[in-house]
Amino acid sequence: MGFQAKPLNPKIGIEITGLDLSQPLPPDELAEIRKLWVENVVAVFPDQSVNDDQHISFSKRLGDLEMINMAALQAEGRPEIYEATNVDNNGNIMTDDHPVLTINRGNQKWHSDSSFKAVPSTASMLRAYIVPEEGGETEFANMAAAYDALDAETKELCDGLVAIHDFYWSRRDVQEQAFSQAERDAIPPVRHPLIRVHPENGRKAIYAGSHTREIEGWDFAESRALIDRLITHGTQPEFTYRHEWVVGDMVLWDNRSALHRGLTFDDQREKRRLHRTTIAGSGPTL
Ligand code: OGA
Ligand code: MN
Repeated sequence: MGFQAKPLNPKIGIEITGLDLSQPLPPDELAEIRKLWVENVVAVFPDQSVNDDQHISFSKRLGDLEMINMAALQAEGRPEIYEATNVDNNGNIMTDDHPVLTINRGNQKWHSDSSFKAVPSTASMLRAYIVPEEGGETEFANMAAAYDALDAETKELCDGLVAIHDFYWSRRDVQEQAFSQAERDAIPPVRHPLIRVHPENGRKAIYAGSHTREIEGWDFAESRALIDRLITHGTQPEFTYRHEWVVGDMVLWDNRSALHRGLTFDDQREKRRLHRTTIAGSGPTL
């Protein structure tokens, strides 16, 4: 093994050093990394000199990539790259009411990337290009560990339930004009199991975040109470890891077993730009 691995928090996260992700890794090394990452939910690779093309190449070895669903959120000329940023293409900080900024601020709610798709993503990987001096960390929660820690009665209640996920639910505070009708039509609400079985290790995880609108067949208020309770339970400190970004960091996480969120920063004074690839899911969850 040509790399070093160091656990981060007791229930989530592993830091992997001694690897250059700009170069193709041998298959056996890649398999070891995949195993470690799936086990630990989040893998941190510090200090990577990796450009967008190399970021895309590495990510493609983990699976097919999603194309980012809205043109305004893509890096110029690269539909595989989502920009988590408050900086426009001219390098200026976006105004407070900029539609892209308001959509991106939605990432400050706990979520799983593209859970609003019928085939939701497997994983995401961010690389930091510009980081603020204060704030703007990203937090991750291990929702498999959180499921394990539920009481038996709650597990029994949740097993077998279906949840409705809807991008426009999580973005209900964003101004109407940020989305075209075609964009709305392209991502209608979808159904997923509330408790999801991980296809690689068989572990069950709570699969609910900001895109989760309600429980199918349930009263809306009761749906909300259960969803909010599960998210609050799963994002307690013992299940989470907070990543403080340094330029060059790459972080890979498993959207099948993690929730994540960006923390606030002074986005009208400081700049932040991270690039993300999204590894597509292999099939429907139901
Ligand atoms: C994302 C995301 C959070 C952040 O890129 O998927 O949720 O900290 N980002 O920018
Ligand atoms: Mn996200």
